[in-house]
Amino acid sequence: KHRIIIDTDPGQDDAIAILLALASPEEIEVLGITAVAGNVPLPLTQLNARKVCELAGRPDIKVFAGCDRPLGRDLVTAEHVHGKTGLDGPVLPDPQMPLQAQHAVDFIIDTLRAEPVGSVTLCPLGPLTNIAMAFEKAPDIVTRVREIVLMGGAYFEVGNITPTAEFNIYVDPQAARIVFRSGVRIVVMPLDVTHKALVTRERNDAFRALGNRVGEAVAQMTDFFERFDKEKYGGLGAPLHDPCVTAYLIRPDLFQGRHVNVEIETQSELTMGMTVADWWRVSGREPNALFMGDIDADGFFALLTERLARL
Ligand code: BDR
Ligand code: CA
Repeated sequence: KHRIIIDTDPGQDDAIAILLALASPEEIEVLGITAVAGNVPLPLTQLNARKVCELAGRPDIKVFAGCDRPLGRDLVTAEHVHGKTGLDGPVLPDPQMPLQAQHAVDFIIDTLRAEPVGSVTLCPLGPLTNIAMAFEKAPDIVTRVREIVLMGGAYFEVGNITPTAEFNIYVDPQAARIVFRSGVRIVVMPLDVTHKALVTRERNDAFRALGNRVGEAVAQMTDFFERFDKEKYGGLGAPLHDPCVTAYLIRPDLFQGRHVNVEIETQSELTMGMTVADWWRVSGREPNALFMGDIDADGFFALLTERLARL
């Protein structure tokens, strides 16, 4: 069983990733959710995280607010993709559950120190600011992490926020560099994978057909998303990036990748935030990540639909 902390900037696809985790208690125990600034500013991402927990019927989940800006740059947001609230589409009620008082970075540190070594997995779905801050503030926790499974980066698919960078890495390249150089085992779900996980009309209809509140809300989320990405993804529908992370925990067999070295560009304005993945192993640098390249998309959507039906 995976015991995880979800670090997130919801975000419709983040929301669906969280719902999938909460719908899968046999495989996944969510120790807490930490919000970070990304798709929208922090006050909205922490609010959205709580809305999603309540949508899942889990007001008991602890939600923490973390860093409100990247380590060394101004925040770049993505309202053009996710809407003004970050979670446009469904109208979800304001959450009753509280925001925890503790800072997300301290929650990550305390949890890793309190739990047995190698028992906690970190699942970042946004910029890596909170994780990097925790590693910098408490280097002793680094070797206690079981593994990091994250959504970010790209290789053949190159970029979505600049020609060469994926959004999560681009927003905080310094943080990404710290995480990729930490020595922790990392599994990466890059655009190469997530651009194959497209919400087609049929897949969207399947969510709606679940007939529960969650199915309807998810269909509304992917409807919203779709409007904006139609031209880019050949009219097939929006890529469901972040749920690839939580799906991997349940069904790793749905994904295929390679152990490669990944370095993050932090200097060049032109290629800032690029994930330089040594796919052909030409650099001589040690592999530091399992970089995924392929997904069984039908299997992924079948899993997602089956699990969301349980909420
Ligand atoms: C990533 O950026 C965000 O907009 C999505 O939530 C996802 O985490 C995709 O590049
Ligand atoms: Ca995200």
